Amino acid sequence: MSSDIRKGLIEAFTNSPDTYLSGESLAELLGCSRTAIWKHIEALRKDGFILEAVRKKGYRIISSPEKIVPNKILFGLNTKFTGRNIYFEESVNSTQNIAQRLALEGAEEGTIVVAEEQLGGRGRLERKWQSPKYKGIWMSLILKPSIPIMKTPQLTLLTAVAVVQGIQEVTGVQADIKWPNDLLVNGKKLTGILTEMQADSDRVHSLIIGIGINVNQQLEDFAAELQPSATSIYLETKTSWDRAKIIQGIMMHLEKLYLLYLEKGFYPIKILWESYSISLGQKVTANTLNGSIVGFAKGITDDGVLLLEDEQGVIHSIYSADILM
Ligand code: BTN
Repeated sequence: MSSDIRKGLIEAFTNSPDTYLSGESLAELLGCSRTAIWKHIEALRKDGFILEAVRKKGYRIISSPEKIVPNKILFGLNTKFTGRNIYFEESVNSTQNIAQRLALEGAEEGTIVVAEEQLGGRGRLERKWQSPKYKGIWMSLILKPSIPIMKTPQLTLLTAVAVVQGIQEVTGVQADIKWPNDLLVNGKKLTGILTEMQADSDRVHSLIIGIGINVNQQLEDFAAELQPSATSIYLETKTSWDRAKIIQGIMMHLEKLYLLYLEKGFYPIKILWESYSISLGQKVTANTLNGSIVGFAKGITDDGVLLLEDEQGVIHSIYSADILM
């Protein structure tokens, strides 16, 4: 019965793509209550349909879920190794865990793990990362730079630059970077990056760079507590996007920057990162594990460490913190 209602709704919306259908007329058409219609509309949203609801008019379908097709990432991908080896799953706990395993098993550099949904997505500072099905880009990239451990934050900053450039090129959305690696649009979070590593006492074996991008979420797709502070590319452009094309754009920018980094070092990446940063030159509060520091963000060091100058003129090196602006 319930899947009949779901099918009936999809059919009704498909038959009248540009028309608002009221809850009442849908209930009548499908022989159920308006509450049942509302529940099924919410379920369709969770499945990746984008539906608009307008008071007194009803619902209108904007788009059906578009799944990530790994071959679409590959088609036209102009890279030597980044994103060429794709491990794709419909539903995972965290793409980070899979990438960790693949790296241990010897996966080649540039391998990506992409999933349609994560049930245990994780963020920085042991937070959870909501990763609803068909709505975003939830992926982990394996890199194997031969660098000392203390230089790994450089690769996180490099990734933030590549993601800004890839999103800009494909969708036109221009994001800012908040130190170290949050991408914001008008102060709302669009993307998070989480870097984990496999290393011995001083050298890195593999970096697992997790990238989470809110792409096709509507406001209702975010948990209530995130709604004031999160955004998606859909919310910024009122258009739904092919996530495979965005992944492809990011992979191309990432490889270009990574090769530049391996050849010329961090300096050119630092200049680019600074040009996208909204943290620098601002008075900010850094909430660290050892307490809060208020100061002016003076710059980043060559290792990607944030330098904060407090009111006494003392410079603090911030390695890990939440920044409030
Ligand atoms: C942050 O806290 O801002 C970082 C969020 C990183 C989320 C991504 S989604 C893909 C990868 N898998 C995870 O479990 N986390 C990262």
